[in-house]
Amino acid sequence: MNNTYGVHGWNVPWGGPEGYDWTQPDLHIEMAKALERACFDFFLMEDSLFVPDNYGGSREFYLARALRSPKNDPVPLVPLITQATTHLGVVPTISTSFYPPYLLARLIATLDLMSKGRVGCNFVTSTAERAAQNFGLDTHIEHDLRYEMATEFVDVVTQLWSSWDADAIVQDRETGVYVDHTKVRAIDYKGRFFSSRGPLNTARSPQGRPVLIQAGGSPQGQQFAAKHMDAVLAALGTVAEMKAFRTDLRQRLVAEGRDPNSCKLFFVIVPTLGETNEEAQEKFRRRQKQREASPEVTLAQMASLTDIDFAAFDLDAPIGELSTNGQQGTLKRFMAQGRTLREIACNYRYGFEDLAVGSADHVAGVMAEVMEEVGGDGFVFSGPVTRRHVAEITDGLVPVLQRRGLVRTAYEHKHFRDNLMAF
Ligand SMILES: Cc1cc2nc3c(=O)[nH]c(=O)nc-3n(C[C@H](O)[C@H](O)[C@H](O)COP(=O)(O)O)c2cc1C
Repeated sequence: MNNTYGVHGWNVPWGGPEGYDWTQPDLHIEMAKALERACFDFFLMEDSLFVPDNYGGSREFYLARALRSPKNDPVPLVPLITQATTHLGVVPTISTSFYPPYLLARLIATLDLMSKGRVGCNFVTSTAERAAQNFGLDTHIEHDLRYEMATEFVDVVTQLWSSWDADAIVQDRETGVYVDHTKVRAIDYKGRFFSSRGPLNTARSPQGRPVLIQAGGSPQGQQFAAKHMDAVLAALGTVAEMKAFRTDLRQRLVAEGRDPNSCKLFFVIVPTLGETNEEAQEKFRRRQKQREASPEVTLAQMASLTDIDFAAFDLDAPIGELSTNGQQGTLKRFMAQGRTLREIACNYRYGFEDLAVGSADHVAGVMAEVMEEVGGDGFVFSGPVTRRHVAEITDGLVPVLQRRGLVRTAYEHKHFRDNLMAF
């Protein structure tokens, strides 16, 4: 879910009733229930930690359109959602650059305990200079170094999650012992970036290690994934890119001594659904016209991910090489979409979009073909966060996928990781 606990659909058709109050959790809870009805693996909550001012050097463009701000911290939504559901995995985004590892390990263990084993983390290194400045730095930590820190961060939190054995709580009335102290250990972690003595002061959570997910697209991001992750998300536009990404990730997993099937890979898909193929294509054409009419919205979004002020360039002049300390994988793919910024903004797709247009039956067929061709474990859906878009997927597309035996029709397990790995 992009811009998770922020403003959604305030000025688009089907965006919701007038006076929709974005500060309330209702939309998210309803959405989570719909996803669970459709037997989704998880609900991923995007997050960021700054008010952008990258496009044209001003906050005006973003605030006027409610792009990325205002938004609330998504973590408080987690227990509300797990209370309203029984099997859906819930994955908040966590910054490895700014969260102290002990606080994070404790927070996620608490949520995993409260939800009886249904929580994960989407680890990001946080890409924006402005985010770094909100946490006391003058400039952001260098991209590759951030991933080295992230790798150590996950090492520490994983050890903290293991600092209690599963059977440490004995609760023995006869002996008067609640916790067997021999089953709780310090970790005495002293790393290059982080140190933590441990043990954690909450018990081992049901999953032991909550589900770990990341979406870094650079070689460093993929290496981070290969070391630690249970699942990887990749936003790629073509089948060829997906295939190459999967091959590379699997090689890295093997090089780390892991079974390549122990890490699930999901590709971002933004479907356009209609009752007929023609209706869906018409919808897609309208969206493309909007993109062409306002390339600055795409450029401003990209500016906030890369810290590059795209307003400073001529829209129609050939654009040369650009580099970023922000999202490198994203910038590389963005710049490959054309010669000029206008072309790039009009051609850019967040994920697999152009071929996922049609009736539910047609899109289900395309999804099946892509998985057949690429391999991998499935898709992560994105797109406008409106009740309509969610219902088109959960109540229109998913039943067709279920009839084809491509997705589950019931959850088999209690814990998130077990369900994730089962299908
Ligand atoms: C599906 C998906 C979800 C993402 N969610 C977030 C997020 O919530 N917060 C964030 O700062 N970055 C998010 N990212 C960005 C990645 O963490 C990463 O920075 C980006 O893909 C570029 O990779 P690189 O940093 O390895 O170059 C997401 C990326 C994808 C594809």
